[in-house]
Amino acid sequence: MNTAVMGLQWGDEGKGKAIDYLAHDFDVVVRYQGGHNAGHTIYYQGEKVVLHLLPSGIFSENTISVMGHGVVVNPQQLVQEIKEVESLGIQLESLELSIFCPLILPVHQHLDIVFENSRYEKIGTTRRGIGPAYEDLTGRRAVFIGDLLDKDKFYKKVTPLNDYYNKLIGCYGGEQISIDSYIDDYIETGKYLKPFAKNTIYSLNQYFREGKRILYEGAQGVLLDINFGTYPFVTSSNPTVGGICTGTGLSYKALDKIIGITKAYTTRVGGGPFPSELFNQSAEFLREQGKEYGATTGRPRRVGWLDLVALKYTIMINGVDQIFLTKLDVLDAFDEIKVVTAYQVNGKETDIFNPSSDYLEKVQPICQSFAGWRQDTGVINHYHDLPGKTRDYITFIENFTGVPLHYISVGTGRHQTIKK
Ligand code: IMP
Repeated sequence: MNTAVMGLQWGDEGKGKAIDYLAHDFDVVVRYQGGHNAGHTIYYQGEKVVLHLLPSGIFSENTISVMGHGVVVNPQQLVQEIKEVESLGIQLESLELSIFCPLILPVHQHLDIVFENSRYEKIGTTRRGIGPAYEDLTGRRAVFIGDLLDKDKFYKKVTPLNDYYNKLIGCYGGEQISIDSYIDDYIETGKYLKPFAKNTIYSLNQYFREGKRILYEGAQGVLLDINFGTYPFVTSSNPTVGGICTGTGLSYKALDKIIGITKAYTTRVGGGPFPSELFNQSAEFLREQGKEYGATTGRPRRVGWLDLVALKYTIMINGVDQIFLTKLDVLDAFDEIKVVTAYQVNGKETDIFNPSSDYLEKVQPICQSFAGWRQDTGVINHYHDLPGKTRDYITFIENFTGVPLHYISVGTGRHQTIKK
């Protein structure tokens, strides 16, 4: 079954671990959106590895890893990541990089910072140039991986773009960026990446026709989606189901199942509404228990209880078939655990998640409380060995959302995953 793994919250749900766990059952793992704003953490032979661009399937033998054209690529970051992974003894011969991936250029990163600094309400971007690179795509000015393979073509395409951006940067009083400061470096990365670059629209469709099993690896999360997330506090791509087709060139017929990933609680990095957010000591305790610091930027993550109103929304718009619950063990130490079951808005109770930031800033969460199980779940391998109170918590989520929880992660190791 061709399957998508998708974050159902604001990113950082533990997709890296889930994909690493599931990848063995697939022949192809493909990333379809985002860039090196992502940080997918995997423990490989006991060592922590954070992937920002490479698909998490690279740790599975005999798996073809594909970066579809929906991914925006900073070529230096990609080369560095390939080298790091190779130094761990991983062979990357089967890596495929779409020639249609838009490039992130130094001007994009620079502008991301300039724009962010000038915003009254900060989005809290990762400052990697993701938004400006996607803007170029919709603005029909993007430069692609394929352009990087030919120096003259690259120079011809980058010159007007760089001029355009220097004018813009000038308006904000920023420093001008000269093409000469990066062109040689980019061309060198192009030479390095050439063996991986191809038209992945055709290779992916060929794999589909051959009956190869495909796993789609989402980055970020549904609540950060440019169309369905908590706009404007979102990323600039589509982590939702539509992004799979537009970011790979495969039809919806090549997708059979969606596994949604959610933490047993909620986190968010950057600005924007967060109805179930916790503050003060409770927040500190949850953050420390869950080691909630950004894999990409190291920023402390905002933390809160599991929000089932938001989860039902993300399940609905993507047609999620199964849930992979992560970091359940983080709740082991709590006496009381809460989940949000409704919102109170202007004195009325509702179960509607309206992603508008103005609306969400106004809502008061209504919570259901559970007694904590106060037991180490990280050592448990079978669902029925989980404490009764833990199973009550899980059953409540299943009944509320109407979606079965098929996998429960109780630690960072691959083996710390309970299949229900
Ligand atoms: P950008 O994607 O760098 O433009 O950032 C836009 C928003 O998405 C910010 O709030 C970021 O913190 C958030 N974001 C981007 N990528 C990730 C991710 O992989 N995990 C969690 N948050 C992310």
